[in-house]
Amino acid sequence: MMRAVFAAVLATAVILPSAAFAGPIEDRKAIMKGNGRDTKMAADMLKGAVPFDAAAANKILANYAAAAKAFPAHFPANSKTGGETEASSAIWAMPADWKIATDKFQKDTVAAVALKPGDAASFGKAFGMVTANCKSCHEGFRIKKG
Ligand code: HEC
Repeated sequence: MMRAVFAAVLATAVILPSAAFAGPIEDRKAIMKGNGRDTKMAADMLKGAVPFDAAAANKILANYAAAAKAFPAHFPANSKTGGETEASSAIWAMPADWKIATDKFQKDTVAAVALKPGDAASFGKAFGMVTANCKSCHEGFRIKKG
């Protein structure tokens, strides 16, 4: 079960090379790249590939919460295409559903931070709460090109 979760998370975390593109597309991709790096680091800790470090784990959760808060501001109507964006047109076509997804990401990341995990087991729980959002949002709102 944990293995399946890691596989899904790592598949999500693949970092694609992207051309430099100034503006909201570049900004939102940069936020997501940070999520990808943090998720890789967290998965390594949870697999035991690197030792569990409570400070690093809590920093990752704080990063997720900051990313979730900042992310929705980078989707103006003039950023639907260009810059090799993988954003689905559903973001603009179904704004209520998009808001539900971004609100849930914010709520779950804030809740994960509040857990203040001190060991790998509780970090795994917090991590699972956060990363369920990666998959569900990407399914609905990201057209993966890579
Ligand atoms: C609320 C929706 C949403 C959530 C939650 C979400 N993502 Fe994303 N993600 C997107 C969208 C939309 C894109 C495409 C952005 C673009 O290309 O303009 C994306 C792109 C990415 C990319 C590719 C970035 C690049 O190089 O262009 C990575 C990596 C990524 N997400 C990882 C994650 C991880 C890991 C999580 C969970 C911790 C996560 N995402 C949670 C919507 C979301």
